[in-house]
Amino acid sequence: MPTGESRLDRMIARLTTQRACLASAAALIAGVPGAVLEVGLGKGRTYSHLRLLFPDRDIWAFDREVHAPDFSRPADDRIILGDFRQSMPDAVGSLPSPVALIHADIGTEKRRGDDELARFVGQTLGPLLAPGGLMVGDRETEPPACARLDAPPVALPDGIAPWPYFLYRRT
Ligand SMILES: C[S@@+](CC[C@H](N)C(=O)[O-])C[C@H]1O[C@@H](n2cnc3c(N)ncnc32)[C@H](O)[C@@H]1O
Repeated sequence: MPTGESRLDRMIARLTTQRACLASAAALIAGVPGAVLEVGLGKGRTYSHLRLLFPDRDIWAFDREVHAPDFSRPADDRIILGDFRQSMPDAVGSLPSPVALIHADIGTEKRRGDDELARFVGQTLGPLLAPGGLMVGDRETEPPACARLDAPPVALPDGIAPWPYFLYRRT
């Protein structure tokens, strides 16, 4: 059998790391008031997890299209549709304030484009964060006035390498 990591192994690493980072984020923002922004609604998997972690917080989501089922997405008036580069600057003035958590789950296999987009998301939405608020995501985003935190340790099956995830706290 060939050695190395399969795509399934990498998916296990990605999703396990993502869940651990969201749990850590929930603990870190427990005392920070504000809404949650989900960047990359996708199929609504992480949205459904955020809904469980933050039952009392307002959650808004961004995507170019909706392909999440009804039970796993916010109401239509909490979904900002369109390409991030246009929809985010247009929406900034009408988003809730303050924001306690931004979760950016936008990674594809085109690393370079993802990195540029992630930086744009950080620059555009990062200023909405309350002091102590967090931006968490699968790409480096460098939001302004934020300090990088270490990702929490993640227990993975033997032979599966950790997946990078990035946490930034508004200073
Ligand atoms: C990795 S998926 C999100 C998965 C989702 N969080 C989940 O758990 O089901 C990334 C999503 O970002 C959206 N996306 C990527 N680039 C975008 C862009 N430039 N503008 C709008 N949406 C974008 C894609 O349509 C896709 O649904």
